[in-house]
Amino acid sequence: MEKREIRILVEEYAGIEALNENDRNLLSEARKISEQAYAPYSGFHVGAAVELSNGKQISGSNQENMAYPSGLCAERVALFYAGSSYPEAGIKTLAISAINQEGERPDVAAPCGACRQVMLESEMRAGTPMRVILDGNPIRILNGISSLLPFSFKKEYL
Ligand code: THU
Repeated sequence: MEKREIRILVEEYAGIEALNENDRNLLSEARKISEQAYAPYSGFHVGAAVELSNGKQISGSNQENMAYPSGLCAERVALFYAGSSYPEAGIKTLAISAINQEGERPDVAAPCGACRQVMLESEMRAGTPMRVILDGNPIRILNGISSLLPFSFKKEYL
């Protein structure tokens, strides 16, 4: 038996002012749209904003439903909206922000497993690594979905 360590590289920023202008705008948009979440059941408000290779920006918030599984996370709302509006454009960067039931920002706006899988597919379609900005304390930036989803399920395995 051998053990192997798998490392990921994470950039950490003390606050939104420390980000470059582009990333700051994208994260601001994610924060803003989280206020428009429809989350009467969880009280957890999430916003996602994507920057596309064609320069467009698209954002979305989580949309819940009384039949719980019918709702959708903010990341998938934004990514599917981007994929359906601009199928030829790749996703350059995705910013995620959340506010919990107490009205506080969690330490890390970590995407759920299903969203990570969808992010992987968007990245594969684009053919270039998708940067991911996770709001929190600190703000974290990852350069590619493999940092969020090691040993991922890939279409080559089908
Ligand atoms: N949620 C997101 O929108 N994104 C995530 O990455 C995690 C969870 C939503 C789903 C649900 O509306 C609420 O947050 C609580 O899980």
